[in-house]
Amino acid sequence: MSRLSSRLLWLAAPVVLGTSVLAATSQKAAPKNPLALSFKTPSAVRGASLAGSCAGCHGKTGVSTKADIPSLAGQIPNYTQFQLAAFRAKLRPSNVMHQVAAKLSDQDIADLSAYYAAQAVGPAWKAEPAARARGQKLFVAGDPARNVIACAVCHGANGRGLNANHIASVTNLPPQYALAVLKEFHEAPSFGGIVPPETMRIALKPLTDRDLRDVATYISSMK
Ligand code: HEC
Ligand code: HEC
Repeated sequence: MSRLSSRLLWLAAPVVLGTSVLAATSQKAAPKNPLALSFKTPSAVRGASLAGSCAGCHGKTGVSTKADIPSLAGQIPNYTQFQLAAFRAKLRPSNVMHQVAAKLSDQDIADLSAYYAAQAVGPAWKAEPAARARGQKLFVAGDPARNVIACAVCHGANGRGLNANHIASVTNLPPQYALAVLKEFHEAPSFGGIVPPETMRIALKPLTDRDLRDVATYISSMK
C-alpha cells in the first residue's frame, strides 16, 4: 500500500470507529475503542525519563533536526496522545512507530505527551523568502476570493493550536514533513461529519500545489 492510501485509512479511522477524534481522546470514551486511553494525571517528569529513546529520531527535547521527521516539542498533548494511540493500534502507518508505540502503556503515552507539550518549539527552518511571504499571507489572512480560510483561524496566529479543540500545533514543523502531511489532507476523500480531521480537509481543499508548498515553508519557519 502506498504511503498516501494507507495514511488516508488512518485519518478516517476515528470516523470508521464511529467516534470523533475529540471523543477518542476523552477518558469517557467507550472502553473497546483502541484510541481511547485511560490514565491518571499525566507527569511530564516521568515523561522526560521515557523520552530518551525518542531523542535519536525526534531530537533532544523533541526538536527535530531532520526535515522528514516531525518535531514533538510544543505539540498539544491531545494530539500527541491520539497519534501514539493510533500507532499502537496500527491504524496510522509507520513500521518504526508501531514498534516504538507497542511498548508504551496508556500512562506512558499521557506522560510523554505532557513532557513534549512543555518543551519549547525549535528554531525556524531556513526558508526561501518569496515562498515564505506568500505562505505567511495565506496562513494569516487566507484568500477570500478563492475561499481559502486563514489557517490562523484555527491554528492561531502563532500556530500553536488549541488543546481543548484538538487543533495541532504546527509551529516549526520540519518542512518536508509539513508538506507531506498537507498533501495527504489535501488529497483525502471526505471523512464525514464536521469534526477533526474533516475540518482540516475542508480548509485545505481550495489550495493549489504551490499554496501547499508555500504554507509548508511558512509554518516551518515561523518565528
Ligand atoms: C527510529 C526513529 C524513531 C524513534 C526512535 C521514534 N520515532 Fe516517532 N516518528 C518517527 C517517524 C519517521 C515518524 C513519522 C511517521 C510518518 O507519518 O511517516 C514519527 C512520528 C511520530 C509522531 C507523530 C507526530 C505528528 O506530528 O503527527 C509521534 C507523536 C511520535 N513519533 C512520538 C514518538 C515517541 C514518543 C517516541 C519515543 C517513545 C518516538 N516517537 C520514537 C521516527 C521515530
Ligand atoms: C477549520 C480549522 C482548521 C483550519 C482552517 C486549518 N486547520 Fe490545520 N488542523 C486542524 C485540526 C483540527 C488538525 C488536527 C487534525 C487531526 O487531529 O488529525 C489540523 C492539523 C494540521 C497539521 C498536522 C500537524 C502535525 O503535527 O502533523 C498541519 C501541518 C496543519 N493542520 C496545517 C494547516 C495549514 C497550513 C492550514 C491553512 C492552509 C490549516 N492547517 C488550516 C484544523 C484546521
